[in-house]
Amino acid sequence: MVLIEARDISKIYQLGDTELRALDRVSVIIEKGEFLAIMGPSGSGKSTFMNIVGCLDIPTSGQYLLEEVDVGKLTRDELAHIRNQKLGFVFQGFNLLPRTSALENVQLPMLYNSVPLKERNEKAIAALKTVGLEGREHHHPNQLSGGQQQRVAIARAIVNQVPVILADEPTGNLDTHTSIEIMELFQKLNVEAGITIILVTHEPDIATYSRRIIRFLDGHLVSDKPTIEDQKGLRKG
Ligand SMILES: Nc1ncnc2c1ncn2[C@@H]1O[C@H](COP(=O)(O)OP(=O)(O)O)[C@@H](O)[C@H]1O
Ligand SMILES: [Mg+2]
Repeated sequence: MVLIEARDISKIYQLGDTELRALDRVSVIIEKGEFLAIMGPSGSGKSTFMNIVGCLDIPTSGQYLLEEVDVGKLTRDELAHIRNQKLGFVFQGFNLLPRTSALENVQLPMLYNSVPLKERNEKAIAALKTVGLEGREHHHPNQLSGGQQQRVAIARAIVNQVPVILADEPTGNLDTHTSIEIMELFQKLNVEAGITIILVTHEPDIATYSRRIIRFLDGHLVSDKPTIEDQKGLRKG
């Protein structure tokens, strides 16, 4: 089943007299349940693409469909609702609220749709358990390691039972050992909960956890292969 369809998407930034094509006629289909890595050098359009897929930005031209809904036709409120119900975001810098417990951080996406406190608590505790942080509910971010903070962020991303997680360089601030643990967690969420994972990374080792790799260069989608094929290509080159 198709989850995400980008049809000929371009994103153009006007910088004075010059146009910067951050994305140039990108078309891609992502099915439910995929584990997809997005690679490419800095400035190639990865984050621009993720922002559009995450309904945080709209393309200059082209169409973006999420679960067959044309996102370009939605109102601001409808977009906010979709972001809250369909998309979980994980960032390189964790983006947790400081001086706020893990439990409260994970509850944030449920404040939007006014879930009752008891249910909010139960769901946040369950999400923290899923990411391996049982017993850390009342720790604040500065009392947690980087890996634990990223687990809190992942619990926050999944607490509304979203079908898709968008992760932009989620291991960029973590050491190798912790990165592996985080990738194994994404793998578990993909395999056991069926959550579609879309991950930006510039590290080949991290990308091997995916099953498909698409590559951007200068705003163009230049490669789209199963991960095994992509990695073979790398070794030859
Ligand atoms: N808000 C913006 N205004 C102008 N140019 C931008 C903006 N956001 C991104 N860009 C430019 O678009 C291109 C793609 O950026 P980005 O998607 O962030 O690349 P990546 O995530 O692959 O490093 C870059 O040349 C970047 O400078
Ligand atoms: Mg980026």
